[in-house]
Amino acid sequence: MRTRWCGELGIGDVGEAVELCGWVARRREHSAHLAFVDLRDRTGIVQCVVDGAADLRAEYVVRVTGTVTARPEGTVNPSLATGQVEVSGCAVEILNEAEPPPFSLEEWSEADEAIRLRYRFVDMRRERLQKNLVMRSTINAAIRASMFAQGFTEVETPLLWTPTPEGAREFAVPSRLQQGSFYVLPQSPQIAKQLLMVAGVDRYYQIARCLRDEDLRADRQFEFTQLDIEASFVGVEDVLGFVEEAVLDAVEAVTGARPEVPVRMTWREALERFGTDKPDLRYGMELTDLAEVLAGTGFNAFKAEAVRAICVPGAADSSRSKLDGLVERAKSLGAAGLVWMRVVAPAGDDTATEPRAKVADLESPVAKFLSDDERNGIVAACGAKPGDLLLVVAGEHDRACRVLGQLRVDLGRPPVAEGGLRFVWVTEFPLFDGLDEEGNPMAAHHPFTMPHADDLDLLGKDPLSVRSLAYDLVLNGWELGSGSIRIHRADIQSQVFATLGISEEEAEERFGFLTGAFRYGAPPHGGFAVGLDRLTALLAGEENIREVIAFPKTQSGADPMTGAPKPLADRSLRELGIGILPPKR
Ligand code: AMO
Repeated sequence: MRTRWCGELGIGDVGEAVELCGWVARRREHSAHLAFVDLRDRTGIVQCVVDGAADLRAEYVVRVTGTVTARPEGTVNPSLATGQVEVSGCAVEILNEAEPPPFSLEEWSEADEAIRLRYRFVDMRRERLQKNLVMRSTINAAIRASMFAQGFTEVETPLLWTPTPEGAREFAVPSRLQQGSFYVLPQSPQIAKQLLMVAGVDRYYQIARCLRDEDLRADRQFEFTQLDIEASFVGVEDVLGFVEEAVLDAVEAVTGARPEVPVRMTWREALERFGTDKPDLRYGMELTDLAEVLAGTGFNAFKAEAVRAICVPGAADSSRSKLDGLVERAKSLGAAGLVWMRVVAPAGDDTATEPRAKVADLESPVAKFLSDDERNGIVAACGAKPGDLLLVVAGEHDRACRVLGQLRVDLGRPPVAEGGLRFVWVTEFPLFDGLDEEGNPMAAHHPFTMPHADDLDLLGKDPLSVRSLAYDLVLNGWELGSGSIRIHRADIQSQVFATLGISEEEAEERFGFLTGAFRYGAPPHGGFAVGLDRLTALLAGEENIREVIAFPKTQSGADPMTGAPKPLADRSLRELGIGILPPKR
């Protein structure tokens, strides 16, 4: 029905007779008969000069025939990609009429989220979402090409599955044929891909849909997509290599440039330097250890397992109420308190930019409790300059680091679209993450993660200090993906189950179909999963993965367009053998 796309017409096309199809984005009257009609398709907008456009309304679907002409001098529109030309002498065929759109599509008007999602099919006509969907498709295509070139086989795994021990709440699907029994939708293909390794597939990948019934946030939806990978006879370096290749290929396909390879850092180093396992390397404000400076301090609040600080550049002029707010924030994050120190210039010296040798002038509620050496030491250790603000947390080590890590994000994080792409591999995650209510260690990743070979003898003695062969890929402070080398030996698996407080019977009942299969010749194996919604959002400069998903759910998990979730008809419930209990009071 058409010869060209709207968005691609330019000065080189002048004189060409074109046939275009699309939606009426806007109509402006020029004279009694003549109107400018902006025609939109998925590539962009071009201005058409139409004689007799009275019955053309916004979002009508039309076919336009005309000739590309250069715009008269003074009417070039530099903010439009096609702004040097217009299509003139147009004949318009109306292919379909349209009701007025429920919100303005002209530019990125912040229409209410529920309305946007209710009319998602209209919302998606906007340039921003069109671009994001195309970008997502480009990423998928690049990833498939990369994995195929690396010798991986794409295998589809079931959606009707069974519970797996990965920690998220799962969606259940009732069975009609076996009433009272349920399938579970996979939170990831984790177990299936490990079985594929026993099956000798050796190099598996899938662009896999995953489902988790968790609280929704900017980087979380119920349904999301992973690049899921598993490989046999590999170590950590091999897995990182496969993932790096695929992710960098995808970025290059989108941006045209290959980003720098991810830097490496252990989990411990990430916590020490950034107070988080998701370090954002786009900005400084790293944590400073004040232990040495305060080794002999007489100030009780600083006699703690750890005293750490961050320096907020140029924030010394923060108001008292802002500082009080930071103290409250630190407390809500679990700190006993937060000490702030304004680094002020000495009287008459507005030009000082270097840390000074004489006593640092600190304005702080605790300044009077610190010796001259301590004040100087703190300022020097933090590399602070007059005009900076220091925030200090004392207390239990990991908590002090985490609180400052969060304040660093609160106060320093640039918008998603700024600061380039800074990938980090975070390696050697702890095997366990705290204790459950019964005092048993909890698996940090999942119970099939291989402990670090050097820490095997700590399993019985000091489980919380056992490192694992688990690793994450982090991009600009977002966890992009994670993975691990898996346990393939029954003796180590039993030890880990025992440490987790999972009895042999329970293990057999919950994961028997995996551990049973391992008895038939499980190769050493490991893998990874990259969140593709997150990767696409970061490359598109979006703060919320919703903007790169065609039909996302709202914050409360609803789909305003289809009305899902909805009650099932009684007849359907009967067929499934399901009765609905009255709501919990
Ligand atoms: P994990 O649970 O860490 O690992 O998930 C891997 C990646 O998937 C993405 N992701 C999500 N994206 C959007 N919405 C969600 N609700 C959501 N949950 C997770 C994240 C995350 O880093 N089977 C293991 C991988 C392995 O060990 O091979 C797994 O699923 O980007």
